[in-house]
Amino acid sequence: MPRPPQKRILTGMRTTGAAHLGHYAGALRNWVDMQGEYECYFLLADVQAFSTHFDDPQRIVESVREMVLDWLAVGLDPTKQSNIFFVLQSQIQDLTELTTYFSMLTPMAYVERNPTIKSERAQYGERAGNLGFYNYPVSQAADVLLFTPPPPHTDGDELCVPVGEDQLPLLELTNDIAGWFNRTYDRVFLECTHRLSEVPRLMGTDGQAKMSKSLGNVILLSDDTETVQKKVMSMYTDPTRLRATDPGHVEGNPVFMYHDAFNPDVAEVDELKDRYRKGRVGDVEVKRKLVAALNAMLDPIRERRDAFAGDPDIVQEVLRGGIEQTRAVGGETMQHARAAMYIDYPKLLAPQTVAT
Ligand code: TRP
Repeated sequence: MPRPPQKRILTGMRTTGAAHLGHYAGALRNWVDMQGEYECYFLLADVQAFSTHFDDPQRIVESVREMVLDWLAVGLDPTKQSNIFFVLQSQIQDLTELTTYFSMLTPMAYVERNPTIKSERAQYGERAGNLGFYNYPVSQAADVLLFTPPPPHTDGDELCVPVGEDQLPLLELTNDIAGWFNRTYDRVFLECTHRLSEVPRLMGTDGQAKMSKSLGNVILLSDDTETVQKKVMSMYTDPTRLRATDPGHVEGNPVFMYHDAFNPDVAEVDELKDRYRKGRVGDVEVKRKLVAALNAMLDPIRERRDAFAGDPDIVQEVLRGGIEQTRAVGGETMQHARAAMYIDYPKLLAPQTVAT
């Protein structure tokens, strides 16, 4: 009898700072929507964070707590839902081991020409020149595939990775690795599927494509009302428009991009766009309405965050639960992987039978 189908999600974030609106639109909102349908593993990728921030452990470690609070605040709650787990990457030794095995199967050239790697190399420069950086796509494949439904696979099994578009080349490599492993040794890993978030990658409040806390162009989920107001009111808009009566550009304008992503009142946004194009509304009004929409969205998130932050045990409790569960699930995958590679040494290391 085949077992019932298993549907799992694995996805994650690097712990290089607290979550911002880009994380919310590009990932978290999607995770919340999907959490009912799957057994969910959300990875706090602190090891991966070292690939570009190896010299700043304090930032990585402090971000773990912030990120757990952010995730709880948006409505992912492992204490209430038994199918949700937060996984602290550095505490799962199986991930390190699986990364090593996968790295043997991966031609260097595949990593070097991976578009995600290329663009991050351009973004981080020498910071991303270390060997661990080049190996992180392999490590990310291990992150995903450790959660493969156990072989032999059943119809309806699924391993889904909800991500933003920038991660797709890494998922392609993940499935290449799954195929190489399965063909070289034995069929252990299920290829992953993905679900893309609907909102395209958000730009920073300064109109830069790259959002980063150090550039000061992000709005954090944990920012208070006044901070959101200040950040929005100083947002970059349409540089070609000097007066409110000049016709303005909506496309490529971060203020409207944020309206599209976060303002649920579509009619209001359409009306603002229309007047903006005709030169009949000033930036200030458009921004004020964005402030109102963002604060309405963030208020319940802030409230929950404060409540969770006041609980002295919750972060530890959630992390411990995720570690324990992942060690069980991952341990099973590793047994299959080692057996497929013959490094379970059934003969050499079999328990001795003692002659009586
Ligand atoms: N690369 C992702 C980021 O930059 C984080 C991540 C680590 C991830 N492991 C993953 C995403 C596995 C999806 C699946 O935030």
